[in-house]
Amino acid sequence: MLLAPRITEHTLHKGDIVTVPTQEMLEAVLKTTFKDDVYREDSTTESFQAEMATLTGHEDAIFMLSGTMSNQLGLRALLMQPPYSVLTDSRGHIIHYEAGGVASLTGASLQPVVASNGKYLTLEDIQGKAVLDEYVQYSPTRVISLENTLNGLIMPLEEVRRISTWAHQKGLKMHLDGARLWDAVVAGAGSLLEYAREFDTVNLCFSKGLGAPLGSILVGSKKTIAVARKIRQSIGGGMHQAGVLTAMARVSLNATFGTGVNGKGSLLAQSHKNAKYIADLWVRLGGKLLGPTETCMVFLDIKAAGISRIRLEELSAQNGLVIKNERLVVHYRKSCQADFERDG
Ligand SMILES: Cc1ncc(COP(=O)(O)O)c(C=O)c1O
Repeated sequence: MLLAPRITEHTLHKGDIVTVPTQEMLEAVLKTTFKDDVYREDSTTESFQAEMATLTGHEDAIFMLSGTMSNQLGLRALLMQPPYSVLTDSRGHIIHYEAGGVASLTGASLQPVVASNGKYLTLEDIQGKAVLDEYVQYSPTRVISLENTLNGLIMPLEEVRRISTWAHQKGLKMHLDGARLWDAVVAGAGSLLEYAREFDTVNLCFSKGLGAPLGSILVGSKKTIAVARKIRQSIGGGMHQAGVLTAMARVSLNATFGTGVNGKGSLLAQSHKNAKYIADLWVRLGGKLLGPTETCMVFLDIKAAGISRIRLEELSAQNGLVIKNERLVVHYRKSCQADFERDG
């Protein structure tokens, strides 16, 4: 008999505000394979990677330990010989929250571009900043890295298509930080396939909204994924019994996002509804928002409300809530349906 560890009220520490794996994920670990992934022998990992490639319409996929690793190795695999630049949204995760990895891993400079509509980059924003000239003093743009969702905001498929068509005509590569692409899909913006096919590499995360304890996937061409695999190994990211992780990632995908490319019946839809409910409630009470709530994130304008982060935390605690700052991320949790996530 398989003995699965139980997630209990003790495991779910009071005040925990990040996602936790479900019972089904833990049970999947007990039934997984324990072969060595560095030697490409683990059937759970191999089949999961193949499924992810099919789901996104790419040739190949590689499991990564984190979204940061997946973004960074995706970019690294697309960039071979400096000088070059990566053009991206000025608010992007790869600029602000990946410990300067683009500079150290690829030697690229970053070209941050401000979204003129305040929500997402347009082709015109990008055309105004991309460096296509090979003039000796320039560091030419080689990759456009988009993020969807970004701060919970959806990048429309039509705009992605315009950018991708233009970029590919100009010989530029396209990377997507799709850590939270699931949310755009569930909100009805387009399917996984429709978005993923516009990019040379895509990062998708199983932690955060889908609830796996860790793990991300990078999809791309066979050639690109082979480069990423080599570099993953070089920085110590080669995993031996990776089946432990890929088994949980598969459950997180199937149970939380759903099994198709459209996120039909996805549990994430309820998180979006809950986020909208919270946003509306805040506004009804006279509060202002820092931006629209399109998926699972709510940004409270606490400055306009005249309260500091510390005060927000105190007031929340008095009302039995754990809120650390003005960004609220609503996610699914089996034991208590909706909860607040701290940081991704
Ligand atoms: C949009 C986005 N990209 C990348 C990451 C990085 O993922 P990880 O924390 O797994 O490295 C995050 C994390 O929250 C994210 O929100």
